[in-house]
Amino acid sequence: MSELRDKVILITGGTAGIGLECVKAYIKAGAKVVFVGLDHSSVEEAKALFGNPHLGLQADVSNDADVKIIIQKTVDTFGRLDAIHNNAGLASPSKPLHLTEDDEWENLINVNLRSLLYTTRHGYSYLKESKGCILNTSSLVGEIGQDNHAAYSATKGAVNALTKSMAIDYAKDGIRVNSVLPAAVMTPMLKNWVSEQPDPEITEGFLNDIHLLGYCPEGDVIADACVFLLSDKARFITGVNMPVSGGAELGYRRGG
Ligand SMILES: NC(=O)c1ccc[n+]([C@@H]2O[C@H](COP(=O)([O-])OP(=O)(O)OC[C@H]3O[C@@H](n4cnc5c(N)ncnc54)[C@H](O)[C@@H]3O)[C@@H](O)[C@H]2O)c1
Repeated sequence: MSELRDKVILITGGTAGIGLECVKAYIKAGAKVVFVGLDHSSVEEAKALFGNPHLGLQADVSNDADVKIIIQKTVDTFGRLDAIHNNAGLASPSKPLHLTEDDEWENLINVNLRSLLYTTRHGYSYLKESKGCILNTSSLVGEIGQDNHAAYSATKGAVNALTKSMAIDYAKDGIRVNSVLPAAVMTPMLKNWVSEQPDPEITEGFLNDIHLLGYCPEGDVIADACVFLLSDKARFITGVNMPVSGGAELGYRRGG
């Protein structure tokens, strides 16, 4: 595979779950990857896995100064930037809105949404130069909602709206902007969310059932879609919020 040959891709949240699978897929497709994680140890583990010429960086994507540094380090190292994949996210807490505390709200907004402001602010000029891409890992719940997950759903709904507005703004620069919308994907985040539910065992069964294709996937299914969206094969696709969800969003259906 060489769909992403020599492209320089910066992915946030690239040290676990969906992001880690994306890093593997991007490297397999020929890219040079900068993977960013929140905690030092996960970055070191990923570095040991991927080695040179790829770059592992610790940063908090909700911090403007951190984001400025990771973009600068990317360009200093590779001389260009072809894509930013905004993948880092938080799913906790799992609550209805009236029980959501101010700090929980702020934290979700900052990590899931404000981070796009920062990566775009600092990465725009380089993406304009390369006629590059922005890709967001959003969520299907930003389109269809979810019980007991109001603030999280709101951040993802905002990302879906931003995807369209950014695609309109940046089309004239040759920058494409798209999102992938998973339903559920078995990752550390999802396992943590399951543990927050009143009956974790029933919830695990539910996670298989919501996907029409019959199972809760791993991150590789999302990574394959991301390779496509970042490749020239998707050169005429922009402003799309693409479900990668085994049909979870499709309406009327019978059980069994
Ligand atoms: N897992 C699912 O079921 C699912 C479903 C829909 C959407 N998503 C979205 O997919 C994305 C990835 O989710 P996942 O399940 O792989 O998560 P995960 O918790 O397994 O991994 C999250 C990654 O993001 C990084 N991260 C977290 N906060 C950060 C911060 N402030 N700054 C920098 N990095 C940070 C972590 O270091 C880690 O690398 C998220 O945006 C999530 O909302 C996940």
